[in-house]
Amino acid sequence: MTFRTLDTADLAGKRALVRVDFNVPVDGGKITDDTRLRSALPTIAYLSKQGAKVVLLAHFDRPKGKVVPEMSLAFVAEPLSKLLQQPVAFASDCVGPAAAQVVNGLENGGVALLENVRFHAGEEKNDPEFAKALAANGDIYVNDAFSAAHRAHASTEGLAKLLPAYPGLAMQRELEALDAALGKPKKPVIGIVGGSKVSTKLDLLRNLVTKLDYLAIGGGMANTFLYAAKIDVGASLCETDMAETARQIIDLAGSAGCKILLPTDVVVAQEVKPGVASNVRNVYDVQPDDRILDAGPETVATLNATIDQCETLIWNGPLGVFEVPPFDKATVSTAKHVSERAKSGKLVAVAGGGDTVAALNHASVAADMTFVSTAGGAFLEWMEGKTLPGVAALEA
Ligand code: 3PG
Repeated sequence: MTFRTLDTADLAGKRALVRVDFNVPVDGGKITDDTRLRSALPTIAYLSKQGAKVVLLAHFDRPKGKVVPEMSLAFVAEPLSKLLQQPVAFASDCVGPAAAQVVNGLENGGVALLENVRFHAGEEKNDPEFAKALAANGDIYVNDAFSAAHRAHASTEGLAKLLPAYPGLAMQRELEALDAALGKPKKPVIGIVGGSKVSTKLDLLRNLVTKLDYLAIGGGMANTFLYAAKIDVGASLCETDMAETARQIIDLAGSAGCKILLPTDVVVAQEVKPGVASNVRNVYDVQPDDRILDAGPETVATLNATIDQCETLIWNGPLGVFEVPPFDKATVSTAKHVSERAKSGKLVAVAGGGDTVAALNHASVAADMTFVSTAGGAFLEWMEGKTLPGVAALEA
């Protein structure tokens, strides 16, 4: 895909409508993780410095086309202004006179945040009339919200058809990183996919086995694959009805030349409790009341040795119940190994998805990865090989 880049845009005095993702986690009215605000800063600062009037469009939560006061974006203006170190005006509506008044009041380089686009039903319906009403406040459109790009909404897709459209700097960086991981990766490529259920990651597994040289499967979903290979997984989480599907994925991998790595040893316990007594067992020795809660040391050693043979790694999902030590060992040890390889320039390592980011933070290595995507649904759909409407609409 080819995109226009912002450095080719004539920006001075222009109104830039910028779609950002400010769907931030909040507790008691306070933002608990401002990563999404920070990731929008380079684009906002760049546009402002070039003399554009920056008009931010965002959603918050799922108000379903109605005004829900608790889902107002007003609370974001002040923290954003602090991070930007410049005032951020707030408009109580994203279309109509309230929006126009604030946008018209902006000086060149000024920044305004408009109220939650999802307060209007036209947003999620991608209604062309609503997109037109949004477009009335812009001369160009910039999408910097990769994490909302799996939605074909007016502010993520419709607007790109009405105004000259550009990816923002964060979006551009994300697309480049993802392309380096799965689009045109340096080979061999290994994927690590974990998490509890095969059923939620079917499309992802089916797509990955056609693209990767190695696929390591961990977490609860590995139990289903072991079970499909007629290995007794005791009292472990296991989707027995997915065994046939797991076998199909293994066949698909075989014909596509992708080697699947399953655990050869596992950490078992009777319950999931911090510090509980646990044992390492060969997968063939799992007892009836054992629960598999992590991959074992031999599995991790094999995985790390395979990673050493690879140039690119893509990671989604933890290898064990990393939130409950000691079942974080495989995830932490692999994360540390991956980050060392990435730091020394030997591996392009891209990771994404909510649990994965939390696991990498737990291992204190998120900053050492080549790229970590904080997008949830959008990252998964991209790994499934799906076209993201918000990205496709930006194509020049
Ligand atoms: C997210 O938080 O993943 C994005 O902002 C998308 O939100 P949505 O799932 O409500 O569309």
